[in-house]
Amino acid sequence: MKKIKIGAVGLGRLGRKHAENIAFRIPNAELAAVCSIVKEELDEVMKSWNIPHGYTDFNEMLKNKDLDAIAISSSSTEHCNHIIAALDAGFHVFSEKPLGVDIAECRRAEKAVEKHVDQVFFLGFMRRYDDSYAYAKRKIAEGAIGKPILIRCYGLDPVKSIKGAIAFAEKSGGIFLDLAIHDIDLARWYLGSEAKSIYAVGDCFTYEEFAKYQDIDNGAALIQFKNGAIGMFYAGRTCAHGYHIETEIVGTEGSLRIGTVPEKNLVTVFNDTGAVKECVGGFLERFEKAYLSEMQEFINCIIENRKPGVNVYDGTNATIIAYGCKESFENNRLIILD
Ligand SMILES: NC(=O)c1ccc[n+]([C@@H]2O[C@H](COP(=O)([O-])OP(=O)(O)OC[C@H]3O[C@@H](n4cnc5c(N)ncnc54)[C@H](O)[C@@H]3O)[C@@H](O)[C@H]2O)c1
Repeated sequence: MKKIKIGAVGLGRLGRKHAENIAFRIPNAELAAVCSIVKEELDEVMKSWNIPHGYTDFNEMLKNKDLDAIAISSSSTEHCNHIIAALDAGFHVFSEKPLGVDIAECRRAEKAVEKHVDQVFFLGFMRRYDDSYAYAKRKIAEGAIGKPILIRCYGLDPVKSIKGAIAFAEKSGGIFLDLAIHDIDLARWYLGSEAKSIYAVGDCFTYEEFAKYQDIDNGAALIQFKNGAIGMFYAGRTCAHGYHIETEIVGTEGSLRIGTVPEKNLVTVFNDTGAVKECVGGFLERFEKAYLSEMQEFINCIIENRKPGVNVYDGTNATIIAYGCKESFENNRLIILD
């Protein structure tokens, strides 16, 4: 069996998981090279997993013509530059979300994808590959709730990860581009429509540290979509009970909810504190299977020479909406999109 040789850039909180999946859990892929500007994590991964090639300079990795594809999990502000350089160097590309942190760079990435039609470009909106979110999509398509008219989303990171969130803030693009972007992509996917108007609010309620990046620790947006549907989005970084990702879609004939109680598993602990259902602790735990499924799908697209279900335009359109949320809360005004 031919193995697709991957060079992975970014070995941080999520990049290490993608690299591990490629190295050990995807039979038709091989982790042939790794890249990080943090030398210690590069050395650690190369040594622990016996990876033959390691780079601190991304452009040096692109000179390795033994590779077939590049998996990008670098900081969000680096994505578009890395995508364009990797496509221009002839590689298939997987990139983490968001596609870009502003619209101009997303358009540049679109052009690069359009220029390299024979190469696969895959954007890591992994929730589309999560069993529950994919099941909900099928139920909506079957007409189980009638016509969707409202989506309500909670995307809340646990407060216990706050140090990492503060460290990451400068290169995240802000709370809407970093966290709410997943919910925005799902809204577009489920509603089949783009945003028409956006009003967003938020503040540094506890952690002033975000203010120097024009960022906040909790924010919300109300969005009207072009087909009339309503979107309510709450993104936060201070969730006390764990990682709370909850989505409700209300239709004309019913509604469905995903992750209403973000349970860790089926265990309930009964003791002197009550009947306790523990919560899932973070994104790696909640979406472990989805991260693997999306990467397997990327490899399958390369082998079977087909295009993924999520494309570069999904990336741009989600960024347009998330950027509109950022603009709205920064300037305290309603944003009307074309
Ligand atoms: N899909 C999801 O659920 C999800 C979850 C977490 C993070 N992410 C995304 O994944 C990306 C990485 O997030 P993270 O939390 O792992 O970040 P992180 O800060 O923990 O790690 C960033 C990594 O990128 C590397 N890097 C940064 N700039 C580089 C450059 N110019 N050249 C080479 N390496 C470079 C760093 O050395 C580090 O290894 C972000 O874009 C984030 O939005 C997605």
